[in-house]
Amino acid sequence: MKAVRIHKFGGEEVLEYEDAPDPQPGRDDVLVKVEAAGLNRADLGTRDGTGRYTEKDLPMIMGFEFAGTVAAVGSNVTDFQPGQRVVADPGRGGYAEYALAKHYQTRPVPDGLDAATAAAMPAVFLTAYHCMVSHAGLKADDRVLIQAGGSGVGVAAIQIAKHLGARVITTAGSDEKCRRLHDLGADETINYTRQDFVQEVNRLTGGRGVDLVLEMVGGAVFDKSLEVLAPGGRLVTIGRAGGPVPEPLPTIEGRSITRFGITAHLTQNLEGYKALDQFMALVRDKRMQVCIDRTYPLAKVAEAHRRLEGREHFGKVVLTP
Ligand SMILES: NC(=O)c1ccc[n+]([C@@H]2O[C@H](COP(=O)([O-])OP(=O)(O)OC[C@H]3O[C@@H](n4cnc5c(N)ncnc54)[C@H](OP(=O)(O)O)[C@@H]3O)[C@@H](O)[C@H]2O)c1
Repeated sequence: MKAVRIHKFGGEEVLEYEDAPDPQPGRDDVLVKVEAAGLNRADLGTRDGTGRYTEKDLPMIMGFEFAGTVAAVGSNVTDFQPGQRVVADPGRGGYAEYALAKHYQTRPVPDGLDAATAAAMPAVFLTAYHCMVSHAGLKADDRVLIQAGGSGVGVAAIQIAKHLGARVITTAGSDEKCRRLHDLGADETINYTRQDFVQEVNRLTGGRGVDLVLEMVGGAVFDKSLEVLAPGGRLVTIGRAGGPVPEPLPTIEGRSITRFGITAHLTQNLEGYKALDQFMALVRDKRMQVCIDRTYPLAKVAEAHRRLEGREHFGKVVLTP
């Protein structure tokens, strides 16, 4: 089959579009004929060696998540059959014509949802939901600040928080992204290139601050986000696209500051993958949106990575074999 593999870590030049052995399903595996694969910021870390994979994982086929049709199942798999449309989030293997996932990492795709839309959903909807709801206990009427609203995670998080009745303030790096985030349901948007988000959040909340911050930028954005936490507020850090996050995390009396990682969360809560079903149904029913920024053929994967690195994208970048 054709796949994109990396044999060493580095820049986009390490992405090799080439022939690779067809994957063979183990007893608990579902083999999927891939129709679309979602890109994530973590792919950039996988590629350059700063992510969770190490030299011993090489060569590897990248791609956290993908959607397509079941081609075969392992002997222990009773919940999926060949021919069924599915989406999966195993953390690797998606940049290919065929890919494997454990059956518990796989969910059926409802009729009416196309493969590109489904492939763009698992990582960001599961992260946003489990981080804000399962981990941080998001409640109706909470005031939430979602940093990097135009990211894949941000777009999902805004819609989930609104769906649950929260009031959402979000930040982005351009007026155009802010306009689109309003259209998605954000109550207030802040273009941080023109406005100081701490001052703005304080103004918008009458000086009280927010009950929850979903923080995924790191560096100065992390530090300043601590200043807008209301009494009893929770900040959850999930990423450091723009700078480091202090280790150990700071403590502030009467506030909670924690880290969240979706891989560890799902490893300990295999049922957690099922949370995707409700969001796929909401998207199919047009009550939520998946914002696909651009779709690239697998052979043009380097362009797709450049698009993500350039930060002009809104929502998700997708590959098709
Ligand atoms: N812990 C977890 O389980 C988990 C899971 C998924 C994702 N994440 C993290 O969540 C974040 C979002 O992931 P994603 O895949 O949705 O990302 P993405 O679509 O690539 O979006 C990242 C956005 O962050 C904003 N940003 C602000 N400052 C930045 C900087 N210095 N460098 C790069 N981007 C910057 C950019 O938007 P503007 O230009 O508009 O600011 C950019 O579009 C990442 O940090 C990722 O690592 C964590």
